[in-house]
Amino acid sequence: MNTFSTIAELTAAIADAKSAKKSIGLVPTMGALHEGHLSLVERARKENDIVAVSVFVNPIQFNNKEDLEKYPRTVENDLALLEKAGADIAFTPSVEEMYPEPVTTVYHFGPIEEVMEGPRRPGHFSGVAVVVRRLFELTQPDRAYFGEKDFQQIAIIRDLLRQMNSKIELVPCPIVRADDGLALSSRNMRLSKEAREVAPTIYETLQQAVEMSEYEDVEDVKLWVLDTLASFHEVNDLPNGLRFEPEYFEIVNDTTLQPIEKWDDAQGSVGCIAVWLDGVRLIDMVRFR
Ligand code: PAJ
Repeated sequence: MNTFSTIAELTAAIADAKSAKKSIGLVPTMGALHEGHLSLVERARKENDIVAVSVFVNPIQFNNKEDLEKYPRTVENDLALLEKAGADIAFTPSVEEMYPEPVTTVYHFGPIEEVMEGPRRPGHFSGVAVVVRRLFELTQPDRAYFGEKDFQQIAIIRDLLRQMNSKIELVPCPIVRADDGLALSSRNMRLSKEAREVAPTIYETLQQAVEMSEYEDVEDVKLWVLDTLASFHEVNDLPNGLRFEPEYFEIVNDTTLQPIEKWDDAQGSVGCIAVWLDGVRLIDMVRFR
């Protein structure tokens, strides 16, 4: 594996791969890698000649300064994991390398960014689009791999590719979970032992919601999920004032991301949730139809 921290080194290696007619798979990440990220790398490994992985904590997609400062950085370990997973190129630029000048570009995505994460994290998706577009231009991938854990991000990238008139194939990959069901996330590292123990409740609740959807209305399922999590600490005796604070739970059309009112409103529907636990913001999703 070659590790590059400059754009000059990266683009030289990409030019070589291109002239040798090799296909390129790109996996953009912010590091603190876990099995979820590695599942993307493994998938890319199977489908491309060259696998490039970026490790870059992108400051312009953080709307919360504290979240950016607390974001885990484990580069040495990340590189060892990437090497083991069979990546060919690891790209680890500094902020100055990626953004030599202040970023002024702003992306708009219309209705798909006006729901869920969009209004709660102003500027987030525009910041994601800026960095992902830059990575697309630098690595010129045939395919790009994204996890369904960030379900709305996939819709944003799909629209970005449309706006760019790009032929890059977007490959959505399923969520990887811990044995107890918690969606793997770099932010899980910040949970206390007690919080980590109770965190699988989020996915358990989502799974029960899927069962309920067989006989309950969309609105009732939605309210039940929010209420079950918000009142969990009252029903169960949680230590140290620990509690779930759901920020949103939406049941949406899986392509337009617009909330549905009846199960028949969309061919495919998913439930997306953001919950605060122990000062950490966790997100998860589940497919209904
Ligand atoms: P990051 O949170 O590091 O995630 C990188 C990729 O790994 C994303 O596509 C994400 O959906 C995927 N991923 C994370 N946890 C996963 C899990 N448990 N199962 C499957 N896939 C998982 O998402 C970002 O970084 C950034 O926004 C980025 C796209 C790199 C732009 O900065």
